[in-house]
Amino acid sequence: MELIKNLVENFKKEFKKDAITSTEVFFAPGRVNLIGEHIDYNGGKVFPCALDFGTYAVVTKREDKTFRMYSENFENLGIIEFSLDSLVYDSKDDWANYPKGVIKTFLDAGFNINTGFDVLFFGNIPNGAGLSSSASIEVLTSVILRDLFTLDIDMVEMVKLCQKTENEFIGVNCGIMDQFSIGMGKKDNAILLDCNTLEYTYAPFILNNASIVIANTNKRRGLGESKYNERRASCEAALKDLKDNGVNIGALCDMTTEIFENTKHFIKSEEAISRVRHAVSENERVLKAMECLNSGDINAFGELMNGSHISLRDDYEVTGFELDSLVEAAWEEEGTIGSRMTGAGFGGCTVSLVKNEAIDSFIENVGKKYKEKTGLEAAFYIGNPGDGARKLGDF
Ligand code: GLA
Repeated sequence: MELIKNLVENFKKEFKKDAITSTEVFFAPGRVNLIGEHIDYNGGKVFPCALDFGTYAVVTKREDKTFRMYSENFENLGIIEFSLDSLVYDSKDDWANYPKGVIKTFLDAGFNINTGFDVLFFGNIPNGAGLSSSASIEVLTSVILRDLFTLDIDMVEMVKLCQKTENEFIGVNCGIMDQFSIGMGKKDNAILLDCNTLEYTYAPFILNNASIVIANTNKRRGLGESKYNERRASCEAALKDLKDNGVNIGALCDMTTEIFENTKHFIKSEEAISRVRHAVSENERVLKAMECLNSGDINAFGELMNGSHISLRDDYEVTGFELDSLVEAAWEEEGTIGSRMTGAGFGGCTVSLVKNEAIDSFIENVGKKYKEKTGLEAAFYIGNPGDGARKLGDF
């Protein structure tokens, strides 16, 4: 509450609106993916959860068509202003392209948005660290739009429009996992999401004597500049090779390992074969992980997380020195149940399951080893599964 009070005060100061008596406050979480990496766009199953930290917005509606946006995370950029009549991507507008793109996508989808608004954002998710700060601000914007303009749209539809924004306005060909988990998150639960059908189930993820520990490599990664789109393109090319040769699948994750082994010779490039091996094996690991969770075998769940990292390192090649160093240091700790990179990779964060009594020594030892190897200071957060994007109230 103290945080919200401060944000409302800062909003009034930044926008010189001392006299206003009420603002609306919204929140969207970040997310961490426990297992099922780089397969949301391959029709696979993923197992992320929303976090209890994320992005806040303080908003008041305007009478004219102007949007004024300010982020406490990018104070040096000041207030970014644009009009409802010219919603075009502009690199000068930096982070504000995310909310701008969502507004444009909603308009294009036929929703009646007829005025602008003033908004102050503040995020306590580290930016660009693989915990989906960008999907968080997108879904947050959609919740603001729905509320301010009383739009008749449900969360899953909003999630889809946010993914569309990222794909078409921002130019990152991401899957649906991030926006979905941020929109649909539920406290104390992770979400098993079938990215083919968007069917989902909540799975309680409060462990008796262990916690989710997120470790940030503090190696900055811009998703747009990364190899993300390249990986996706090679999966698409491999899918085409398979289909052209009569393999009857809609997505790579429709294959079992057996089908993959029998048909992989149809895939033209050796590199793409490795990418597909990852996709198929990762999807199978997710299914096994669910069985482990249901039978209460958390150690076996941890083993599958480790296997996921190895596959992302060797077959998908999205880890790199920093992520590998952090994960290897985690594997060496007594109290580690499992550890892997999470999100797009190439930097960003790892996710580990750590026994509660070992968390302090984990942070100390892993941090120390990581620093010795890379010269970088890791940051650690406890990941508590939280609720999805929502309005917090009028303040
Ligand atoms: C990013 C994308 C997601 C997903 C992950 C990798 O976070 O936004 O759609 O592909 O990478 O699992």
